[in-house]
Amino acid sequence: MTNSQDAVGGDTADDLLPEDPMAGMEMPEGGAKAAGDRQPKMVEGSALKMYKRDDPDMPPEFRDFMVKLLKYSHVENNGNPHYRDVLADIAEPGMRHAPDGRSLMIEAEILRQEVGHGEIVANIIRSLGEDPYHDKRVGQYAFFIDKDSWCDVSWFHMLIDRVGLYVGIEWMGSTYEPLAKVADQLEKEEYFHATAGFRYLKKLMREPENRNEVQEKLYKWWPAALDMFGRSDSKNSAKYVKWGIKAKTNEQLRQQYIADTVPLLQELELDVPDHTSNRQFL
Ligand SMILES: [Fe+2]
Ligand SMILES: [Fe+2]
Repeated sequence: MTNSQDAVGGDTADDLLPEDPMAGMEMPEGGAKAAGDRQPKMVEGSALKMYKRDDPDMPPEFRDFMVKLLKYSHVENNGNPHYRDVLADIAEPGMRHAPDGRSLMIEAEILRQEVGHGEIVANIIRSLGEDPYHDKRVGQYAFFIDKDSWCDVSWFHMLIDRVGLYVGIEWMGSTYEPLAKVADQLEKEEYFHATAGFRYLKKLMREPENRNEVQEKLYKWWPAALDMFGRSDSKNSAKYVKWGIKAKTNEQLRQQYIADTVPLLQELELDVPDHTSNRQFL
């Protein structure tokens, strides 16, 4: 047999296709609950009334609250031109610093999903009869911290994308059906991003020359991640609870995140920073 397949040493053309970037990093069966202590616990389903798209019974206050949440405080929104800066700041260092082809593919897949999240949110804002266009920077400062190395990219996924998991879990309890419906997908994809970050860091820690940088950069990213949950005395919390978006206060969610994430930092054999130092919101 003298065909071209033999010439490249493969049995089929499939051998040349790259592996699915998400392979081995899917959310465990049964969602976050099945992942044990490493995952935030599911929020109990809301007993409040569920509103469908164009629901004539939807109170104006509820509609305004959803717009405020998605358009004016959630970073992912393709209708906001500033979200492109966030996407570009993930894409650029990811493409530049990824150490091998597989991590390049993972970075490209993460970016594709983040663009998808922006489209989902823009569409949900439209479903409320609101134009998603908003020409102001939205989102926590963690999204705008420089990522100068692969180590920064890794910490961004490990810690900042991980916060997205908790947003997904909160949204599962949403009383706006279109939002509740996408929460599961968002949570699964953010789990993939956070897991990718953890695996990148594990690999970096295997090389002794990287260990200092990994530890130093943890001091940079840890307070930013904890600040993402907002102020402990936030006055908006009651409204979130009223409309079924949040079952926990900012501080409860932050403590949950700390309890779930510290064992991963210990597995990386890192010193865990003080939870209050260098924080901007307490
Ligand atoms: Fe996302
Ligand atoms: Fe993400």
